[in-house]
Amino acid sequence: MNKKIFAQLLAHSQNDIAKITDPYIQETFGISIARCETLEQYTDTIDDACLHKYFSKYWQNDMKKWKYSGVALIDEVNSLQPRAVLDVGCGYNEFKGKINNLIGIDPYNDQADLKVSAMEYKTNQRFDVILCLGSVNFGGRDKIIAEVGRCVNLLAEDGTMFFRVNPGIQHDRPEARWIEFFAWNVPFIIELAEMFNLQVLDIRDDTNSRKYFVYRKKS
Ligand SMILES: C[S@@+](CC[C@H](N)C(=O)[O-])C[C@H]1O[C@@H](n2cnc3c(N)ncnc32)[C@H](O)[C@@H]1O
Repeated sequence: MNKKIFAQLLAHSQNDIAKITDPYIQETFGISIARCETLEQYTDTIDDACLHKYFSKYWQNDMKKWKYSGVALIDEVNSLQPRAVLDVGCGYNEFKGKINNLIGIDPYNDQADLKVSAMEYKTNQRFDVILCLGSVNFGGRDKIIAEVGRCVNLLAEDGTMFFRVNPGIQHDRPEARWIEFFAWNVPFIIELAEMFNLQVLDIRDDTNSRKYFVYRKKS
């Protein structure tokens, strides 16, 4: 659950749900949503609406700026000769047509092949390569663990996952204000590898203090 949004709602309402009115939500978070029954439901619904607004209307990318986790991945991934590649949170789907056999999914960006998150994505297919570039980054520890677990589940035996993660740096734009950026760090990357029986192939510092790392699924 997004702790920033929950704390804001709790401070405002003092647990009186009637105080969470449409004008208050619009004025505070800049979005409109349907009525909810609990503070937790409000938190998740507002979180999703804030992510949707930011990533569909405001966020822009420059794939060329990344040292390891941008265009350099095109040759790196193609050299693995993958039968199927999943780009989770593909944004503008910039690898489409450049990385072979790629499907881009994203819950908020219209350029995705399928407009879903990894958690919602229903398939029996398994992927030789999964990219999670700046997309498994939002919310608390439990959400991150669930999303990484789902990606491991979608990965073929001996498959490879490439990550770019944020150490918790807030994006500058005011529209990103209510997004909770998970504070990734190296011990957590290693903890996840142990949790999901993954081999860590590489960890590096990428541009803008982002971490780039690579897991392989052990068979
Ligand atoms: C910082 S952008 C990175 C986009 C692209 N991967 C890139 O490297 O340019 C983060 C992307 O993750 C998507 N996203 C947000 N929450 C997500 C989730 N739970 N699952 C998958 N993608 C998500 C956003 O819509 C956005 O397109």
